[in-house]
Amino acid sequence: MTQERLAIRGGRRTVWSPFPHPLHRLYTAAVMTRDVLSMIPRLSRGKTTIGDGSKIVKKFEDAFKRYVGADHALAMNSGTATLHSAYFAVGVRPGDEVIVPSYTWHATATPVLQCGATPVFCDIDPQTLTADPADIERKITPRTRAISVVHVWGNPAEMDRIRKIADRHRLALVEDCSHAHGAVYQGRPVGTWGDVGCFSLNAGKAVDGGEAGVAVTDDPVLYDRMLIFGHFGRIARGQAAGTFDFGDMSLGHKFRPHQCAMHLALPSLKRLPRLNRRCARAWDILCRELQGAPNLRPQETLPGAVRGGYQSFVLIYEGEERGGLSREEFVKAVEKEGVPLTVDRYSQVNFTYGMLHRAPLFTEVDRRKLGGVCYDFTRPWEDITRQADLPVSEKLCRQLVSLPRMIGVTDRYVRACGRAIRKVLEATAVSPPAEAHPATTSPAARHRTAGDH
Ligand SMILES: Cc1ncc(COP(=O)(O)O)c(C=O)c1O
Repeated sequence: MTQERLAIRGGRRTVWSPFPHPLHRLYTAAVMTRDVLSMIPRLSRGKTTIGDGSKIVKKFEDAFKRYVGADHALAMNSGTATLHSAYFAVGVRPGDEVIVPSYTWHATATPVLQCGATPVFCDIDPQTLTADPADIERKITPRTRAISVVHVWGNPAEMDRIRKIADRHRLALVEDCSHAHGAVYQGRPVGTWGDVGCFSLNAGKAVDGGEAGVAVTDDPVLYDRMLIFGHFGRIARGQAAGTFDFGDMSLGHKFRPHQCAMHLALPSLKRLPRLNRRCARAWDILCRELQGAPNLRPQETLPGAVRGGYQSFVLIYEGEERGGLSREEFVKAVEKEGVPLTVDRYSQVNFTYGMLHRAPLFTEVDRRKLGGVCYDFTRPWEDITRQADLPVSEKLCRQLVSLPRMIGVTDRYVRACGRAIRKVLEATAVSPPAEAHPATTSPAARHRTAGDH
């Protein structure tokens, strides 16, 4: 056990440099300025929108579908819009259920409500934090129409098993790839395992358009259905399968992206392989530094999976249940060492209510009084608001901590962060952990570099 005094107890802090490095802030500002300036001459003179999906919208969609390896890409104004369109496209309707992990951003689940259907929450795997295929299967009922999986924090879910489950039960499969741009599972990019793959291009995502999203599919009918849902103005022009003859109309949503967002997203997509390579390196270094540290294990990557997007670097802290610091005290002690560690965001945002499956929106708020169609009017209300029992998610949501995506820092900085975390863990472990995170199962040992496909 280390003799070094913790910063929180008056000792010397371990990490002195700021995150990210000031030079990286300057670099980022310069790149953003260049992207913004370069779009000015390209904006059509006096024309501030592109309704027919041509020009920069087409350019981005073509580049994105090439990168992912899908037949069709449809750009939209948010990731939420892509999920809503995907659920509509695969035929989610009142009376249906869609299986969704509780451990995700709520936009994976809320568009299900907009289809008049009910999200049914499933548990996650305690190592990967992605949807547990066995629990998905347990949650299937005659009402299930679709399964929606999330490659949470850039970590691919077990897509081969989940695809087989979907096929066996004749269910649609939607992938929420909002954290995982460029991730690959068993040689196949995420987004192409499902019937539709949905990517947020929101600010801070690995491909960043400010506010935007893009859906990919190989199925021309699903593409057409997404078009008629929210893209009036390009129906006649863009129909892939000739599914509908709507003329110039759509079903009422307007999900088209702003062309400025596309101008930002395109160069950001070009930078994605570099972002993924850098993040993979930083994640490797961090995992190596933490190997064998007591009471902590990194989110694990499955064999054959390659992370991408790296929305956050998430770690599982098990010290509290072994009599050590509470998670909040642990985070504070690590922060004092100069490391930008926080309580996991989804545990905080969603755990205010005890995760999504405990959130009032899904359990208590009487949505029938709100108007609109945000509940399934074909079912008894008590049926819709029944709470799920998800022991793994509930336990993990008291254990997860996270670091920001480590980009714009040196290897030395990442190593110092790992050392600082280990220092706190070793100084505060009260009993030998039952199982330290062993070297052989470390994600660092398993994963290859994303962005190389
Ligand atoms: C997992 C996940 N799904 C969906 C979304 C929704 O994307 P957007 O904010 O672009 O609507 C987000 C956004 O943060 C997300 O993290």
